[in-house]
Amino acid sequence: MTKTPLLRIALAAGLTLAVLAACDGAKTAKDPSAAEPVPASAPASAPTLAATPPMGFNTWNKFGCDVDETLIRQTADALVETGMRDAGYKYLVIDDCWQVDRGPDGRIIADPKKFAGGMKALADYVHSKGLLFGLYTDIGPKTCAGRPASAGFFDMDAATYAEWGIDYIKVDWCHCDDLDAPSEYARFRDALRRAGRPIVLSICEWGRNDPWKWAKGVGQLWRTTADIGDNWDSVVYIIGANSRHAAAAGPGGWNDPDMLEVGNGGMTFDEYKTHFSLWAIMAAPLMAGNDLRAMTEETKSILLNAEVIAVDQDPLGVQGQVVIERGYGGQVWMKPLADGSKAVAFVNYTDRELAQYVRWAQIGLPPGPAKVRDLWAHADIGVHSDTGKHYDERFEVRVPPHGVVMVRIWPAASAK
Ligand code: GLA
Repeated sequence: MTKTPLLRIALAAGLTLAVLAACDGAKTAKDPSAAEPVPASAPASAPTLAATPPMGFNTWNKFGCDVDETLIRQTADALVETGMRDAGYKYLVIDDCWQVDRGPDGRIIADPKKFAGGMKALADYVHSKGLLFGLYTDIGPKTCAGRPASAGFFDMDAATYAEWGIDYIKVDWCHCDDLDAPSEYARFRDALRRAGRPIVLSICEWGRNDPWKWAKGVGQLWRTTADIGDNWDSVVYIIGANSRHAAAAGPGGWNDPDMLEVGNGGMTFDEYKTHFSLWAIMAAPLMAGNDLRAMTEETKSILLNAEVIAVDQDPLGVQGQVVIERGYGGQVWMKPLADGSKAVAFVNYTDRELAQYVRWAQIGLPPGPAKVRDLWAHADIGVHSDTGKHYDERFEVRVPPHGVVMVRIWPAASAK
């Protein structure tokens, strides 16, 4: 788009010339309404927004820019029919490429060919299925795929989302290198508040500006890394990077190691189980990124594993951490859960089967008997005793290559 139509649009919208500056110059070129204080009566994000990590589906990993309303309606249907909605996946989010332009009044325009019925009707359909609806934009002038984004239009866009019935907005960071991320995202949050609808704000600046230090209270989730790829190396890299910020996570604000690749074909069954288990033990948002209309039984057995999902969604809201780092390529992770039990994941990064063990003291359990349940086998595997005195009492598992064994352990006092 040349400057001339942009100028026309901006003037028609009653905006100052300042907003014409690219995002790079927007430090001094603010959305005019941004200077206004948030009215005292503006509803703050309800404390219950994202009390547990958001779960849902996002179009990007599988479909990229190939999004239209048929895909969204069919995906909404699939979320219900497969049982995904009832398992907790409630946000249906359209990522990049739904938007094509701005109207003479500055309003963002959804692609009229691909979304012929308009976003309001689509939101109504998604809501009619008992789901919530999300969209994507960018702090800068353009999205990462070059579509019109929100620089200069925070309030107008927030009002539009509220009018359409949007429940979740992912806000990206392309074309924003010189901007101050904490203040830009805070301005976006304030615009959402002024719009008066509780909308989850998904901050997507890839961990560039240390969001674990400032994003809590601004958004409900914040990306910690570059984009995920549908391959094992990517998952391993992201696990390491995301694990460093565990202290920042908790109810209402979560580290986001990016959307799931489970079911997209680039990893083995064991690798996908590890990917899903580690996202759960890290209390990560669980946004499926595969084609929900055509899932294999293996894929369903991962995404619909209620026992692993329960670890992710545990109300205590603690991000699990590595408790044992084994130099030969194994890790043991532990996430404390609200009922006093511990979720424990044994991970094998090597190409060979690995025996791994843990002592109760290493996972914060008192000495004595404890009930162990395997969350992938869906089976109780007995009461194991560890007095802390005898070497042969250690609890040991065999972990397949690139695989995981994930258990939940209840100390005898609370063993059910
Ligand atoms: C960035 C984000 C991705 C996706 C694309 C869309 O790369 O990190 O998750 O939203 O943009 O263009």
